[in-house]
Amino acid sequence: MRQKPKIRRSSKEQRKGALPKYGKAATAPTRLARGAISGQWRKEVERVLITEVQIEQRIKSLAQEIERDFRGREMVIISLLNGTVMFLADLMRHLNLPMRLDFIGVSSYGLGTESGEIVFTKELRLDVRGRDVLLIDDILDTGRTLRHVLPRLRTLKPRRIKVCVLLDKPSRRIEKIHADYAGFEIPDYFVVGYGLDFAERYRNLPFVGVLHPHVYKQGCKQIVRK
Ligand code: PRP
Repeated sequence: MRQKPKIRRSSKEQRKGALPKYGKAATAPTRLARGAISGQWRKEVERVLITEVQIEQRIKSLAQEIERDFRGREMVIISLLNGTVMFLADLMRHLNLPMRLDFIGVSSYGLGTESGEIVFTKELRLDVRGRDVLLIDDILDTGRTLRHVLPRLRTLKPRRIKVCVLLDKPSRRIEKIHADYAGFEIPDYFVVGYGLDFAERYRNLPFVGVLHPHVYKQGCKQIVRK
């Protein structure tokens, strides 16, 4: 469950409206998408950072890259719950390869702070020994989650592990973790949608949007009260 971001973007960044990097989709004007936020979300989601179309296009090109690298291998996709739900489904349907799929449940819990304890909520069931693993996460932020997951997976002796994330926020990195495939490099915005949550909400938005700061300020007070 993602909580309040500690580092806020600078006012300079806000003015510049920094765009996500990587892929053709990232260079398309995000401002066009502003009108796409339905009335229901407008008060909570400041703006669309990555549109549905940009996501779709980028996933197609990611899938081509992955296909090239995994061709002829016994591929096992391991997806981290829960944030990967939409990304995984869309990426998988574009991967024209034999594959098996399993999940690891992992979550960072913390009240009102960003860095909670990493807790495993579901263990892997498939045997990955000697297999080529594609590990999928929705966002690579501080890297703490993958720093816990990767050594655990390595003890199961897969042939290799490649990491694929939809979003990469290098400016927040604490751990030395690198994604082999990344959909979009984004600035330090607190983003929700397309699987990503704030306090378990917003996962169902079809785009990646920037959460309005008033929501996480208010949201954290509510969470702490519970
Ligand atoms: C989120 C996200 C990543 C992780 C990235 O998980 O899904 O797994 O945080 O952050 P990090 O690089 O700083 O570790 P979360 O614990 O919020 O669980 P969720 O997938 O259920 O939203």
